[in-house]
Amino acid sequence: MAEYTAYFNGEWVPFGEVKISPLDRGFEVGDVVFDVARTFNGKSFRMKEHLDRLYRSLKYVRLDPGLSQEEFSDISEEALERNEPLREEVGDYTVRQFVTRGPGAWTHDAGPPAVCVMVTPISFKRFASHYNDGAPSVIARTRSFSTESLDPKVKHYSRMNFNLAELEAHDVDPNAWPILTDIDGNLTEGTGYNMFLVTDGVIRTPGDRSILQGVSRGMVFDLADQLNMPIVEEDLQPYDLYTADEAFFSGTSPCVLPVTSADKRDIGDGNPGPITQQLLAAWSERVGIDIVGQALRHGG
Ligand SMILES: Cc1ncc(COP(=O)(O)O)c(C=O)c1O
Repeated sequence: MAEYTAYFNGEWVPFGEVKISPLDRGFEVGDVVFDVARTFNGKSFRMKEHLDRLYRSLKYVRLDPGLSQEEFSDISEEALERNEPLREEVGDYTVRQFVTRGPGAWTHDAGPPAVCVMVTPISFKRFASHYNDGAPSVIARTRSFSTESLDPKVKHYSRMNFNLAELEAHDVDPNAWPILTDIDGNLTEGTGYNMFLVTDGVIRTPGDRSILQGVSRGMVFDLADQLNMPIVEEDLQPYDLYTADEAFFSGTSPCVLPVTSADKRDIGDGNPGPITQQLLAAWSERVGIDIVGQALRHGG
């Protein structure tokens, strides 16, 4: 892999020099928040929304990065500029910001935080084939965090439930993408993506009580509005997924990804649905790039 340049604790360093101490609470106890944006043709997409969410996460967990949101934004854009000469070969980038609590015996006296902004190529291989075939999904047994234990609106690295959900989905189907439910059995989200169903022409998605407020999810709402497609937030159960006409995930790298089966049952006719395709096309138009074509070129 090419040597990308990262921002780490006030300095610009080669990616390989980003090293977190094993005594940092970010590593020790998952005491770290983060965010991830992507580029289209090298230009960052909705950076402000991503950094707004990062600063909400920081505030909620009471972590001070020692940088203003504006400084974080400037550093993120500079990270992209510094790595721009290496971009063409890989298509586009993700830009990730993370802040750990730093070393300390107790949360309240830990520090200083480790602050990083890093740029990596989008892993198109992970999802490219699913634009045409649709991703298989599996409803995992392991649940999402409840708002009472760890609010899912915070974007953090304490993700062991997600890891277990991925293993459970893989047990059922090696290619499956997990969907988690909350403690009441309502569908919530996946391990890096929000979920949507389409039933009788209406786009349906869980409300934001038990999910991360995805920036791509917000974009789906904007595009649905632009295309005059009805869209609602409501509690959804596995029944709704099994009987939907279409389903799709939204997430920063794939944008919109068709989902064509759940627990090995076909969703609709088992092919990516027309509303899913229209949303993808409208998104491509908005950012001036053929999202599917690019993914297939770099990860097909
Ligand atoms: C748990 C979870 N849900 C949803 C998403 C999708 O959010 P976004 O659209 O901002 O990438 C992510 C992104 O990583 C996530 O980690």
